Amino acid sequence: MKVGFIGAGHIGKALAKKFVNAGYPVIISNSRGVESLQSLVEELGDLATAGTSEDAANADLVVLAVMWEQTTSALEKLKKQLSGKTVIDATNNMNSSPDDQPTSVVISQLIPDSQVVKAFNTLIAATLDEDPAVNDGKRVIFYSGDHTSEKETVGRIISDLGFAAIDLGDLKQASPLTEFFKPLSALNLVSYPN
Ligand SMILES: NC(=O)c1ccc[n+]([C@@H]2O[C@H](COP(=O)([O-])OP(=O)(O)OC[C@H]3O[C@@H](n4cnc5c(N)ncnc54)[C@H](OP(=O)(O)O)[C@@H]3O)[C@@H](O)[C@H]2O)c1
Repeated sequence: MKVGFIGAGHIGKALAKKFVNAGYPVIISNSRGVESLQSLVEELGDLATAGTSEDAANADLVVLAVMWEQTTSALEKLKKQLSGKTVIDATNNMNSSPDDQPTSVVISQLIPDSQVVKAFNTLIAATLDEDPAVNDGKRVIFYSGDHTSEKETVGRIISDLGFAAIDLGDLKQASPLTEFFKPLSALNLVSYPN
């Protein structure tokens, strides 16, 4: 399964490393083009390549890791490539107001033919970049989505990357907990076996 990254900043880079470490080939993209990604590709190693955002959106599984303000323009041109695909949405809206729709709901509306799974948006990038194993425990990643089968696949992948995957239900159930400034946001939790 090849994993495409729309966004190769703090979150995209930390997460691409985790996928590569778990043996997944990745294709990363940003707004400035392939040349600007060469040093990151070298750092990530043989399983990584750079491409356009269209190339990344053509992968089997896609991770969205752009700033909230960049989301609409990034997704509008990728609707066709993303149709029928699972999209892991790691975005947060850091300037949201109480009347705003949750990010995951807005993104589902922007790419209605994709299966959006919200995940990896609650740990700060520096923590996400650390080892998911902590002593005998595993760092927690929450995930949620409206499409059960795709959500379960993402849950298995999160476990495969070495994290403890916790299913919070559908997007509307999870958003009051995981959106920016909500109770689980930026919380670095570790799950220990009983
Ligand atoms: N940083 C954190 O601790 C953290 C934690 C949890 C969630 N988040 C969320 O994760 C998302 C990404 O945050 P970040 O800190 O990684 O941001 P960032 O460091 O600013 O990275 C954003 C990336 O998106 C790329 N990009 C912009 N427009 C694009 C487009 N049209 N197509 C492809 N790539 C595009 C940028 O490329 P260029 O550099 O070439 O413009 C850059 O690589 C945000 O929504 C943020 O709220 C961040």
